[in-house]
Amino acid sequence: MRRQTATANPRAYTSMNRTHTTGREVFFGDEEIIVSKTDTKGRITYANDVFLKVAGYRASEVIGMPHSMIRHPDMPRCVFQLLWDTIQKGEEIFAYVVNSAKNGDHYWVLAHVTPTFDTDGKIIGYHSNRRVPDREAIDAITPIYAQLRAVEERYASKKEGIVAATDVLLALLKKGGVSYGEFVFSLGKKMAEAS
Ligand SMILES: Cc1cc2nc3c(=O)[nH]c(=O)nc-3n(C[C@H](O)[C@H](O)[C@H](O)COP(=O)(O)O)c2cc1C
Repeated sequence: MRRQTATANPRAYTSMNRTHTTGREVFFGDEEIIVSKTDTKGRITYANDVFLKVAGYRASEVIGMPHSMIRHPDMPRCVFQLLWDTIQKGEEIFAYVVNSAKNGDHYWVLAHVTPTFDTDGKIIGYHSNRRVPDREAIDAITPIYAQLRAVEERYASKKEGIVAATDVLLALLKKGGVSYGEFVFSLGKKMAEAS
């Protein structure tokens, strides 16, 4: 007889996590940095103690898992598409991201994601450092992400949804006369002060 064990396959675990949200926001310290590293496919190879504490996992539960295991359903797919398109080109990106903790709580971060190169200049993985974002930035980005998600949900095909939402994002940037990087930068008081 086949028995269900607690060690479900990674994909099943991921989708379970995605649907379970409490609506409760949790916070981490201004002086803390949430760090993770991935291989070229986005599987977690390293997570620091702050990552584990805030997300509520043990290292053994995250290492080897796809980074989407902490994906929150409010995150627009088009933002992750932009993230991957950027880092796969060998460039860095800043992004506001809301993540799910293991218990379904959520936390906002300002992520700085960078490629890691070997000595031949080949990408061998990625690295993300995340800090506490400014509240004003989160207040500004939340309705924009909701708009992008709403566009994505209008399409049965994920791909078409991403294309349509990306168009909306690009139109927003065009209207503001800014690049994506400038847009992210303009939302954060702390980032502007650091410049
Ligand atoms: C270094 C690195 C860090 C990432 N950090 C996160 C993260 O904190 N939260 C998240 O949802 N996705 C993160 N991602 C993106 C995921 O790989 C994935 O694209 C995203 O969760 C969407 O997953 P899905 O397309 O399976 O829905 C990260 C990717 C990389 C390469």
